[in-house]
Amino acid sequence: MAEKIKVMYSEKEVEDRIGELADQINRDYEGKEIHLIGILRGGCFFMCELAKRITVPVTIDFMSASSYGMSTTSSGVVKIVKDLEEQIVGREVIVVEDIIDTGRTLSYLLEMLRERGPESLRLCTLLDKPDRRVVPVTIDYNGFSIPDEFVVGYGLDYAQKYRNLPYIGIVEFDEE
Ligand code: IMP
Ligand code: MG
Repeated sequence: MAEKIKVMYSEKEVEDRIGELADQINRDYEGKEIHLIGILRGGCFFMCELAKRITVPVTIDFMSASSYGMSTTSSGVVKIVKDLEEQIVGREVIVVEDIIDTGRTLSYLLEMLRERGPESLRLCTLLDKPDRRVVPVTIDYNGFSIPDEFVVGYGLDYAQKYRNLPYIGIVEFDEE
């Protein structure tokens, strides 16, 4: 099946919004140090752009999780594929994710990270699809709330493609 990508948020719109999120984070964490945890693979493009705009001291780490079961819907059972390199006890942690959909992945990860004793733990996501939520998740910093559409770009993939698009697009499938 062929697919087309329709722009939802342009590169400039995304970058402007990331700048606003960074400004807010810089104000909230004035005088502190931030430890960013990017969720691979989708969260890494957003995390880099965000980190470049943060003016307080920043360290970064990555984690990779995958849900068992069907590939198109999150099953709720989360497997840690790659754990953090560093300890987070006593640190001011912000988890950076591409999109919160059902909320299953992040509710699981946040609970797991909270048990490791960070000083604070917040969630920053580029996109939020609130209509799809199954498990409640508190989002501290949100780029855009979007309707229930399948989107790609800025780290988000369709069958592992389109992560490199510098904008957010909706996938439209052509009938053959
Ligand atoms: P959930 O919140 O546990 O359902 O899972 C969120 C994950 O599902 C994200 O990290 C993405 O990897 C994936 N996902 C959800 N919606 C989309 C989408 O519209 N495009 C691409 N990936 C998506
Ligand atoms: Mg993801």
